Amino acid sequence: MKDLKNEKTLAAKEAVKYLSNGQIVGLGSGSSAYIAIAEIGELVKNGLNIKGVPTSEKTRELAESLNIPLLKIEEVDAIDITIDGADEFTTDLQLIKGGGSFLLKEKVVAALSKQEIIITDSTKKVEFLGKFTVPIEVIPYAQNYVLAEIQKLSGTGKIRLVDDEPLITEQGNVLIDGDFGLIQDPALLAEQLIKIVGVVEHGLFINIATTVIMGVDDATEVFLKK
Ligand code: 5RP
Repeated sequence: MKDLKNEKTLAAKEAVKYLSNGQIVGLGSGSSAYIAIAEIGELVKNGLNIKGVPTSEKTRELAESLNIPLLKIEEVDAIDITIDGADEFTTDLQLIKGGGSFLLKEKVVAALSKQEIIITDSTKKVEFLGKFTVPIEVIPYAQNYVLAEIQKLSGTGKIRLVDDEPLITEQGNVLIDGDFGLIQDPALLAEQLIKIVGVVEHGLFINIATTVIMGVDDATEVFLKK
């Protein structure tokens, strides 16, 4: 059986090698990103001089507990490098993110980033995106309308629940997990989703990642943007 935590750790250790003094670093969310943040905490303890920009409250709390200096998103106009996780990726570096519900802040941080490094275990590599549902962040008022529009795109959507109640994101929105089957044209679907009134963002990250580092058994494999 694969040791996925070990694969994530190998990827995280490889990713932090890309960091250098003086950088502003986007700090992702999710179990893989948290391993990277722990590694960054060690590097900071040993003298690395970076400032982090968190993609969630959980990440902010973790980074603060490790004494990683932080900046607020409104204090930066560019981020040198972000290390984050993904739920699925293809070898042409298209992603589904948002399994942990933080896709909106993750996408804002990614949009500001010169380099977006994604770290994963070996289960995340797919030929076609879509086995993992596409998280779609929606203002609550529009949720039924958006669910109907998703059906027009030959998909089905479910409001994400926590303890039988709709999950409310850090921005006060709901998440719809959209199932579109295997997605032949993720860029087209991304365009169609963002045009639906009431959709704030979605978890299709198209042409955003610059590098994916995947742990596989006791090694790492690196996929670069072509
Ligand atoms: C959170 C995310 C995560 O990066 C994604 O869900 C992967 O998580 P993990 O590293 O725990 O597998 O997008 O919104």
